[in-house]
Amino acid sequence: MTRVFSGVKPTGHLTLGNYLGAMRRWAAVDQHEADALFCIVDLHALTVEHDPARVRRLSRQAATLLLASGLDPELCTVFVQSHVDEHTRLSYLLECVATDGEMRRMIQYKEKAPRERARGGSVRLSLLTYPALMAADILAYGADEVPVGDDQTQHVELTRDLAVRFNQRYGHTFTVPKATPPTVGARVMNLQDPTSKMGKSDDAGPGIVYLLDEPDVVRKKVMRAVTDSGRDVVHDREERPGVANLLEILAACTGGDPKELAGSYASYGALKKDTADAVVEVLRPLRERHQALCADPGYVDGVLRDGAERARAMARPTVDAAYRAIGLLPAVSGADPAPNAAR
Ligand code: TRP
Repeated sequence: MTRVFSGVKPTGHLTLGNYLGAMRRWAAVDQHEADALFCIVDLHALTVEHDPARVRRLSRQAATLLLASGLDPELCTVFVQSHVDEHTRLSYLLECVATDGEMRRMIQYKEKAPRERARGGSVRLSLLTYPALMAADILAYGADEVPVGDDQTQHVELTRDLAVRFNQRYGHTFTVPKATPPTVGARVMNLQDPTSKMGKSDDAGPGIVYLLDEPDVVRKKVMRAVTDSGRDVVHDREERPGVANLLEILAACTGGDPKELAGSYASYGALKKDTADAVVEVLRPLRERHQALCADPGYVDGVLRDGAERARAMARPTVDAAYRAIGLLPAVSGADPAPNAAR
């Protein structure tokens, strides 16, 4: 069975973009058709200035929302990265296979490093080495497919390069993964700036619908979405990005087609109203399940504990094999049989 691995970074509240573009498909398709792992990648949240209490809170919230969105711990593995040591164990080996030039070429690093420098004066070394940890996340599990947005495909490409290089130098150890693009037509854009993605990390948000926004807040945000000049409703991403975004959100929520939907609206106002209603309806069960899960924190803790145990058992043999392959002397514990003399 295909193994799928994806990660959610707890650096902001999850958004409608995360849900329609990724989470919904994980629950509807991936967990049924693949051997799927979904990881709250909390170590990655420490690569820029962070507030410890907030990271902790967002990690738990992300886990709860993944379960609320329909991920079933009987069908897939949901866990927290820092609960499984194999990620950092493998990350170091991959740092010994990657080059500093490769890391410095990453677009995300080139964009974020100057921002961090402007903000606080310094850039954490982990921001540079982050892709090695991300590669470890993926390679430790022998993942075949990694569903990610376009902003992450470069990191998955690097992961492939590192896997191939490691295998060539030290013997076949890793599965070479590939990035799978998010669901077509589910690229949700910022309601106030429809040419940029509705990301979770750009946290100030009249243009961002958060999964836990109250229904009236959702309505307000959608009703205030920027629309384009012109009055007729047409689906044209280039010329009318604001209206196209609303049509695509509506289509994603109702299962329609954005081009066809355009024909049934005579005004922007009516489109906004229906889109607002559709979003509220899509988020309703999610909010309700989230609330129920919050009332039962022991359940979520249990899911994460079992998930980490399962994840560790999957990752351990691969990471141990990588340690041996690269030349590290295996530790012999009292319980182990005598070391093989041939080594
Ligand atoms: N870098 C990803 C992001 O910023 C999160 C991530 C970390 C990830 N490790 C991963 C995604 C492994 C997929 C697979 O969104």
